[in-house]
Amino acid sequence: MSERGERRIVAPNITPDVETGAGGWTDDMLARAIREGIGHDGRALYWGMWYQSFAGLSDEDLAAVVVYLRTLPPVRNALPSTALPADEQAANARSPKPITAPVTGPAPGDTKALGRYLLSVADCAGCHTAWEAPRNPGLFGGGNEVGRGSSRAFSANLTRHGSGVAYPRDTFISVMHTGKGGSLHPIMPWIVFSGLTDADLGAMYDALGDVHPVAHYVGNAGEPRHCDVCGQEHPFGEHNHLVLPTSVPVAEAVLERLPGTYRSDEAGWTIVVRREAGKLYARENDSTTDIELIALTETRYLGSGLLAPIEFTLPVAGAATRLVSLELEGIVLERVQ
Ligand code: HEC
Repeated sequence: MSERGERRIVAPNITPDVETGAGGWTDDMLARAIREGIGHDGRALYWGMWYQSFAGLSDEDLAAVVVYLRTLPPVRNALPSTALPADEQAANARSPKPITAPVTGPAPGDTKALGRYLLSVADCAGCHTAWEAPRNPGLFGGGNEVGRGSSRAFSANLTRHGSGVAYPRDTFISVMHTGKGGSLHPIMPWIVFSGLTDADLGAMYDALGDVHPVAHYVGNAGEPRHCDVCGQEHPFGEHNHLVLPTSVPVAEAVLERLPGTYRSDEAGWTIVVRREAGKLYARENDSTTDIELIALTETRYLGSGLLAPIEFTLPVAGAATRLVSLELEGIVLERVQ
């Protein structure tokens, strides 16, 4: 921590050099840093270390990473440690979460589970979802403006829609191996992913097939133009028109069982569902905006600007007991009222 308010973020030397690297750290110290965000010296690591995504690494994969790091040739390179202003470090220190139970990987043979696991450990959705846009087109819907230094690019739509990744599995595998013949912007870290096996890449493709398809053309060549779907200016923006599906008819007897307050303490997320003039609306946390819910089926609803469709769980009789936001791994909000 810095006394004088200086700010210096340093990725440390993690080669096995004993004096200047990780040679003197135990396996547990490395493991805790990677998945839980606590450094060998007990300090909360800067959030940019991305441990919140790596938290999902299975115990077995984590052990493999640690063993691999031990095989690297030691590099003698003394570096200063990260220093953050006290208030930033205090805020940063609230993020690490201890892992207290074994983390098992996807079940062998479950291709889609493997795909979801890889997509989430690599945090593909972090770049491929327009989190900061005035309107979020949806999970993996692209249009996130990603920057490194002075280099910037809009991420692609990876959902199974004509404007996204609608091409065949084999094409996806070769796009990932070759960076689309080297044509992809270097902000897309395809070089890092190009060594993944066909089986791993194919599994990711299969898992992406379960994500709600989003109509959103995004490019990086040409003039930025206004986009109706994400509300930003980006190349190909002029091709996008916000067209929401029309609701399928839902029986009155079902509709009246859905309103209520649903909550996930873990995600810090509350959704209040109410009915008015025959329509269903959702409201998130402290927001004052009503989101109209469009029925995709009797229990599955799309809300404009929501990250993913939501699915209500209906018991044989009576009110819905919970709702699930259909993300890679569904987020469950239990009915609390
Ligand atoms: C650091 C941000 C970042 C991360 C992480 C990232 N991508 Fe990308 N990706 C991009 C950007 C930006 C583009 C657009 C590049 C361009 O238009 O040249 C892109 C393009 C792509 C494309 C090309 C689509 C096409 O046909 O044009 C695919 C496929 C893709 N990413 C898949 C993935 C997968 C799978 C992962 C996770 C394993 C991933 N990306 C992780 C930023 C990222």
